[in-house]
Formats: sequence, structure tokens, C-alpha cells
Amino acid sequence: MTKFDWPLMSNNINQNDKKALIKFIKVSDKFTNGTKVENFEKKWSKWLGVKYSTFVNSGASANLITLKILKELKKNKTEVIVPAFTWNSDIVSVVNSGFKPIFVDINLKNLALDEKKVIKKISKRTAAIFLTHAMGFVGISKNFLNYLKKKNIFLIEDACESHGSNLNGKKSGALGEVSNFSFYYSHHMSTIEGGMISTNSKKIDSLAKMKRGHGLLRESKNSSLISKAKSSHKDLNSDFIFFTEGFNLRNTELSAVIGLEQIKRLNKNIKIRNRNHQLFLKNIRKDIFFTEFDLKGSSNYALHLILKKKDKNLFKKILNALRSNSIEYRIGSAGGGNQLRQPYLKDFKKRYNFKDFVNTEHMHFYSLYVGNYPDLNRSKIIKLCKIMDKISIK
Ligand SMILES: Cc1ncc(COP(=O)(O)O)c(C=O)c1O
Repeated sequence: MTKFDWPLMSNNINQNDKKALIKFIKVSDKFTNGTKVENFEKKWSKWLGVKYSTFVNSGASANLITLKILKELKKNKTEVIVPAFTWNSDIVSVVNSGFKPIFVDINLKNLALDEKKVIKKISKRTAAIFLTHAMGFVGISKNFLNYLKKKNIFLIEDACESHGSNLNGKKSGALGEVSNFSFYYSHHMSTIEGGMISTNSKKIDSLAKMKRGHGLLRESKNSSLISKAKSSHKDLNSDFIFFTEGFNLRNTELSAVIGLEQIKRLNKNIKIRNRNHQLFLKNIRKDIFFTEFDLKGSSNYALHLILKKKDKNLFKKILNALRSNSIEYRIGSAGGGNQLRQPYLKDFKKRYNFKDFVNTEHMHFYSLYVGNYPDLNRSKIIKLCKIMDKISIK
């Protein structure tokens, strides 16, 4: 494996996490989903500003459970509006739950759904809008959120890579009906692998907890639901009522111990990430790179190099410069750029014209990001900007 001088992420599981984990292992003999998981869920809900959360083993699992829940809540609806620029599990979960994904382009200011284009796609068939808050930006405007509320349109938020971004102080992930987070190693906070489903709805929370644990009724921890369901299923062992279609997507006490430790430093880390981003935006050349992001309420995930104009030759020079300076990068940003270009969606591709996805296509071919994290030495950011200054446009 290549070792980079500036990797995408570094030291995201630190000595404090390791110490907390060792201490827990020494005194505990229960490691499966238990009180630490419950504690972490409570702390997370408080931090986010919602009533309920369910800790799962990944962001992709959070996506899957959420879309399975949507199918139960919206039996007569067939479509879910999604951005073409997102992670693949956002789309896989939609298709896997029996919905048709309706792809919409993004805007460059926040890399999220183009709201004007979304409005044109909303119909009687729409079960939900599945928004991705990409790369640390807030993916929705106040006006559009109000519009969705007025029209009673179900909003699912994927904030897997945008922990702590907020719309006028209210955090992404607390704006819609239900939200998903990832705690994979490279994210704002990590439990190595892990994810969260958050909501203010008791019904959604009960379904999430059951679907996480084989679909078992007792997993819902919802006493009124449990007693009602038990009395109408007297032929079943009351401990083994598989009440809803379920999976095993639980996480462990070990991951929750890391989560409880990490959440203590999350706000501080977000501030450092944003400070790094400001330094980068101040110093990066503006003649070739797009920098007019909507920064209000953002919680930067990574540092973007997005070309202003399509220029394959220039993009190649930038890649070469990064490689020769041992800086790791990801082309196309979140999840491999335009999802419609990915082989797993070959059947959907035929129904779309890439000309309707100008910004997603631009991100796919002319953007990349490099890592931003609390441990990053700020002199590296200045050095990167100087390296970019030396690149000739001709
Ligand atoms: C926007 C988005 N959604 C979902 C996921 C899936 O999360 P995980 O890797 O924890 O499964 C990711 C992963 O990076 C992501 O960035």
C-alpha cells in the first residue's frame, strides 16, 4: 500500500479512543449491542437535536434500513428523488426497497440537489426526496425546506459525510423526517465502521430498531407496540415475533465505546476542519479553481480542487503534481462521481441524457479532493496552494 505524505485521513482513532477501549475490555464481559450502544445513541440524539437514534454497523446499513422503512410507510408511492452525485448505497437502498430512483443534477455551490430541478420532478408518485449533504456542505435552503414541509413531502437526509453542518443553527440530519450518518474511518468522527439512523418519529425509530435486529418485535423497545402485537399473535413465542422484514445490521459495544469517546471532541474537530478549509480557500488560486461555495453552516469534509473550466490537460497536470508531492486524492469526489456512469446502474443510464447533469458531469471529470482532518499540518495547505500556483495553464 502506498504511504502518502498527506493521506486522505490520519489518526482518526487516537490514543484516547484506544485507552477507553482497553479499559472497557478489561472490565466488561458483554460486547454485543447493549448499554454502551444505548448510551451512544442518547448522546448522539442530544448532540444532533433529535429524539431517537439507532446505531448500526455502517452508513450503508443506515441507508438500507431507512429506505425499507419508507417502503412500509409509503406503500402506494413508487419513486424517490435522488442526486446523481452521491454514494452508491443511497441508490442501492432505493432500488433494493422497490422504488424507482429519479435522478437529478446538483448545483456547484453546495454539491447537493438542484432545488429548481427537484421541484419539476415531484409528482403523485414521489415517496420521498433522499437528499445528500455532500462533502460537509448543507444541502438544503430554508425556502426549499419550507416548501417541502408545506407540500408534506417526506425528506430523508444523508449526512454521512457532513456531521455538524447546519441550516441557521439546526443541524443537517435534524431537518427532515429521518437521517443517516456514517462513522467510517475517514469521516468527521469514527467508530472504525458504523452508522446512525436519527429521527423524531417514535414509529420510525421502532421500525429502525426492529429492522436492525432481525425484525424482532422486542428490539423495538416500544412497550405499547409490543403489548398490542403480542396480544394479536398469541400463537407465537412472544420473544420471537419477527414483526417486520429485518436484518442483522447491529454494531457492538466496542464501537459504541469509541463513539462515546469521539463525540466529546467532535465540535472541536469540526472547528479545526473549517479553519483549515478557510486557509485553503484564501490561498488557492482563483483563476482555475471554483471556490464560490455556499459556506454558511458548512462543516468541511475535504479540500476541493474543482476546475472552473473543462480542461483535460490542466487536470492531468494537477494530478501529476499531487502524485509527485505524495498527496493522496480522490477524483470525482463523493462516491465515484456521476452514479449514472457506474456499471451497477447500466439499466437506468439509458433513460437519462448526461446533458441534463452538467454539474454532476463536471464534478465527475474535473474535480478531486484531498484530505482535511484535525491533525493536518497547516503548512501543508500553504504548500499545496504554492504547488498549484506553479502549474502553467498553457
Ligand atoms: C454520502 C454517503 N452516504 C453513505 C455512505 C456509506 O457509509 P459507510 O461507508 O459507513 O457504509 C457514505 C460513505 O462514505 C457516504 O459518503
